[in-house]
Amino acid sequence: MLARQTQHKALQWLGRQLFNREDPAAFFDPLLEQLNPMWVQQYTPAQIKQVINETADTKTLVLKPAKQWAGFYAGQHVNICTEIDGVRYDRTFSLSSSPALWRNQGLITLTIKRLPGGLVTNWIHDHLDTDAVIGLGEAFGEFRLPEIPRPVLFIAGGSGITPILSMLETMAADDYRAPVTLLYYVRTSRDIIAQEKLEALASRYSALTLNVIATHDTDKPRFLKEQDLQSVPGLKAREVYMCGPGGLMDLAESQLEAQGLKAEHIHKTFFAAPGVALDSDSVGGIVQFTGSELEVSSEGDANILEIAEAAGLSPRHGCRMGICHQCSCRKTSGTVVNRLTGKTSGPGEENIQLCVSVPQGPVSVDI
Ligand code: FES
Repeated sequence: MLARQTQHKALQWLGRQLFNREDPAAFFDPLLEQLNPMWVQQYTPAQIKQVINETADTKTLVLKPAKQWAGFYAGQHVNICTEIDGVRYDRTFSLSSSPALWRNQGLITLTIKRLPGGLVTNWIHDHLDTDAVIGLGEAFGEFRLPEIPRPVLFIAGGSGITPILSMLETMAADDYRAPVTLLYYVRTSRDIIAQEKLEALASRYSALTLNVIATHDTDKPRFLKEQDLQSVPGLKAREVYMCGPGGLMDLAESQLEAQGLKAEHIHKTFFAAPGVALDSDSVGGIVQFTGSELEVSSEGDANILEIAEAAGLSPRHGCRMGICHQCSCRKTSGTVVNRLTGKTSGPGEENIQLCVSVPQGPVSVDI
């Protein structure tokens, strides 16, 4: 009887602890307490368990997200959130591990290259170490493997290998039974990311053909050639996945189309914002931030996210390159040009992505 009363009291106490907290999950998860409480709704805490040096300028972070994180599909991205000198920064990276590692061991990896002048990537390289906690958003993105196995060609350039590593690990684990070829372009043979992992994959996964091409190992640069594609057996029947610098992807896409591949079988993802050159005389204008009662004049091809930040506002955002949709907000009037496509919007009310929308004349947005 006494034991039952004690148990009842313990449950009452537990209930009070939970219901008196804004976020009951925090009671069970000490990691949550290490994350800025302002971020908790949008981000899951993830602790760095290991840092692996891949090349001179690329590291892999092995992270353990708190249990409520929802997981991902191979090829998807996540936003991470961190604080540098008291300022919050969000950035988007591809997951480089397979979903099986998350399911079986609760771990994920992000493989991050230092970018020249990149505030956040450089800070990650110089300051983040084992035990540090960062904020992790939910995974997103449509760069995903076909549901029914088809022959696949991957084309990766530099750190564009990261989502493809995740896909290859997944295919090997699932014994994806169709030919798979990876053409991986790196600057020199010292720049191969996850070289051991790739070699191990190629030796244990017989469907995979691996072709690593160094573009600058000799005095004469060697870029993607027609023969690289022609050497892929059954090229026309392949589903193609590309991730890398815009120049490589544009070249690959035009050559693939010339070889008869249809656009719907070519899938691309970016690690830097692509974009069309805008005539800076035809863009810019007065942007009215109606929710903040602020009016700002802009010139040139600054996007509305940049204009808002320069005016001291902090709109929600993630990737800053038009993929995560976290910066979507309501335009109430005016015309914007989409920096990715060069297309001009209508003049009326609609949702826009701030990070790729450049005002063309006066614009009002609900921020
Ligand atoms: S910040 Fe990701 S789409 Fe704009």
